Amino acid sequence: MCGIVGYVGRDTGSTPLDVVMEGLARLEYRGYDSAGVALVTESGIDQRKRAGKLENLRTEIAAHPLAASSTGIGHTRWATHGGPTDENAHPHLGGEDDALALVHNGIIENFHQLKAQLLDTGVSFRSETDTEVAAQLLGREYARTGDLTAAMQSVVARLEGAFTLLAVHRDSPGTIVAARRNSPLVVGVGDGEMFLGSDVAAFIGHTRQAVELEQDQIVTITPEGYSIVGFDGAPGQGKPYAVTWDAAAAEKGGYDTFMEKEIHEQPHAVADTLLGRTDEDGRLVLDDMRVSEDELRAVDRIYVVACGTAAYAGMTAKYAIEHWTRIPVEVSLAHEFRYCDPIVDERTLVVSISQSGETMDTLMAVKHARELGARTLSICNTHGSTIPRESDAVLYTHAGPEIAVASTKAFLAQITACYVLGLYLAQLRGGTYADDAAQVMQELRGIPEKIEQVLGSMDRVEEIARFMADTRSVLFLGRHVGFPVAMEGALKLKELAYIHAEGFAAGELKHGPIALIDAGQPVFVVVPGPDTPHELHKKVVSNIQEIRARGARTLVIAQDGDTDVEPFADEVIRIPHTSPLLQPLLAVVPLQVFALHLSTAKGLDVDQPRNLAKSVTVE
Ligand code: F6R
Repeated sequence: MCGIVGYVGRDTGSTPLDVVMEGLARLEYRGYDSAGVALVTESGIDQRKRAGKLENLRTEIAAHPLAASSTGIGHTRWATHGGPTDENAHPHLGGEDDALALVHNGIIENFHQLKAQLLDTGVSFRSETDTEVAAQLLGREYARTGDLTAAMQSVVARLEGAFTLLAVHRDSPGTIVAARRNSPLVVGVGDGEMFLGSDVAAFIGHTRQAVELEQDQIVTITPEGYSIVGFDGAPGQGKPYAVTWDAAAAEKGGYDTFMEKEIHEQPHAVADTLLGRTDEDGRLVLDDMRVSEDELRAVDRIYVVACGTAAYAGMTAKYAIEHWTRIPVEVSLAHEFRYCDPIVDERTLVVSISQSGETMDTLMAVKHARELGARTLSICNTHGSTIPRESDAVLYTHAGPEIAVASTKAFLAQITACYVLGLYLAQLRGGTYADDAAQVMQELRGIPEKIEQVLGSMDRVEEIARFMADTRSVLFLGRHVGFPVAMEGALKLKELAYIHAEGFAAGELKHGPIALIDAGQPVFVVVPGPDTPHELHKKVVSNIQEIRARGARTLVIAQDGDTDVEPFADEVIRIPHTSPLLQPLLAVVPLQVFALHLSTAKGLDVDQPRNLAKSVTVE
């Protein structure tokens, strides 16, 4: 997820550089590992870009001022392809004499093939990004057509994936052309000036008149107005609307908190994490891989090291990876790893999971694993962070920056990435489940839509949370992959609402915890689908019966059409059908929403709970 701004204006008193820099400051929450601007000036494209926070770009511009202009684009980056360096920062230049500048949000899935074709024709590249490929293609198409909109149309026809592109050309001052597919873009309408942004925060200081684009549309803006065409060239229309948010709300996309916004970004986090994972032959591919396929084939044990929510993602993944690969997987809290004298050698793969990539406990576990000779693979959401740098291989989650302290979208992206890894290993080693990879990937690609459905039916969960503002204790039960979901539900409630909460494996109840059940004790139960093997569904239904008989208030998360739970449930929260291993990606969502609304009902700070920091960089 990156932030994008574009501005064209004439005699308005605003300068493109100021407007673009102001927009970038408001969009910095979308990505902050590098930033850049490009202006169309009398002598051509003038651009500045710098790795690091926006402040670094400001310093660079102060030291090397840009020429006057009427047209500018800017970008604040959250790296996907290529680390956070000056070279990889956007804009990227293309065409003869670098006459074109382009910024991009999203992932171009087929960039390897396109880059290979361009290299064959003698084009050279300055960055490792997928974006520069689009810039080079667009530069060439402009040279052929002399029309930026037509050039964009022909380039987007060759791109696969999700993208918003904004481009300016030296020979078309006063014009910006933008395209979107599965990635956000809005137009801001001013008087003698026009804006583009990844969201309205980009231009909220200047206009509240916005136009929403549909998928697969190209918009061309000039100071006089805008025009829209589809990728197929058919005339299109946007949807004009007036923005009612103020600047602070605009950064949160109109949500009250970043956490709520991030919960709603989960469909994208999963979809983007799946992008670019298969090659032309449908075989799975990973990101930086500095471990040979032979070494991976030889792996006979996997350790997952992680903390908190990331560890629960790892616990979920254990079920899937063991099932698909038949390799034993042990999940260790990273801060315990060194002290349990782990059985690790060069045939062990140690998989670390970390949103931030900076968690000290996890980093130390990775270093220890390397000292013991293990191969290390990092699943991480932050390019350029320490843990991926210290690891032999990396699989990036593409959840975009997570601002709220409590992890939500990163959790779903981590499970998704772990599943991709499991399928990759299964494919590499052959065997029973290798052939299932394509089918599981297909089902995973359908998950974002199902998450949308869950998010669209949360009214009752919000209501329950509000009624429960005075509750002192909540229990969470699950079995199989529902067990880590139960623990994650409990963790969210503890950290956000400061309520005592415990997650148990439902089968463990009868071994002690059932003594906690008293009249009115609220208990969430994650129910596996009726088609889960080993009659697990039946067993969980009887667990619900047991606690209900002892007075518990049962809040049951069950698949659509599962009527067996109804006689024993005080509330049924429905989720769509999935195969058993994928259910956590849906079942956890109501628990996140519950914790969010209970915290809000108690008047607490959802985004910054007490005593907690986003990234824990001490041991
Ligand atoms: C809980 C939460 C934490 C993190 C943990 C690991 O909501 O956010 O439990 O999951 O501190 O952080 P990362 O993933 O950055 O290593």
